[in-house]
Amino acid sequence: MDAYIRLAAGAEAEVFETSFLGRDAVAKVRSPKGYRHPRLDASIRSARTRNEVRLMRDARYAGVRTPIVYDVDVEACTVIMERVRGQKLKDALDLSDDCCGICASIGRTIAMLHDAGICHGDLTTSNMILTEGGEICLIDFSMGKSAAATEDLGVDVRLLEKAFASAHPGLGDAYAALIGAYMKKKKHPEEIMKKLEEIKNRGRYT
Ligand SMILES: Nc1ncnc2c1ncn2[C@@H]1O[C@H](COP(=O)(O)OP(=O)(O)OP(=O)(O)O)[C@@H](O)[C@H]1O
Ligand SMILES: [Mg+2]
Repeated sequence: MDAYIRLAAGAEAEVFETSFLGRDAVAKVRSPKGYRHPRLDASIRSARTRNEVRLMRDARYAGVRTPIVYDVDVEACTVIMERVRGQKLKDALDLSDDCCGICASIGRTIAMLHDAGICHGDLTTSNMILTEGGEICLIDFSMGKSAAATEDLGVDVRLLEKAFASAHPGLGDAYAALIGAYMKKKKHPEEIMKKLEEIKNRGRYT
């Protein structure tokens, strides 16, 4: 693997442009963090790497668009995956004249993920790519969970609501379209609605 141009550098990982057997790819590398004990650091980084790969695969099996994983190096905490061409939803939404349509599609995607018992753990519009083919591709699953409880799914939706309000303050209608489409597609939406109310009330009194 020859990693070259750096596409992004987050708190935990760096993403490089690369290629894999002639295909456009990215390498997501979790480098050591000096502020953690080395053994603890290595175990956190490799656990997140394994978790991310497993959940990307599980979500894909459930029909959710995620990058195809090409290779994993658990020791080096590196994942080589398909480079998804498109635009980060965070940027695409503010420029689009069909925000509500795109948001409804996000809502259906998350409903499919949740119906497969997977919570994403960091649902923001920075962790979604609007592909050139118009699909919603979810990325960055390292904080996610399978066999998720209703509580986890409710927290996922609540965090998205908050992230959406701060990243896209002018797009309240689009968020309503998102949650409307989510509730329409989700199996047993009433459980999530109840949970969301509970989470919001909890926040109000703590
Ligand atoms: N498969 C991919 N195809 C294209 N771009 C990608 C891909 N994976 C990541 N990126 C780009 O790199 C950025 C950072 O990736 P990601 O969100 O996975 O990492 P992170 O937020 O730094 O990681 P983490 O929260 O796991 O520490 C994304 O916002 C996106 O722009
Ligand atoms: Mg991210």
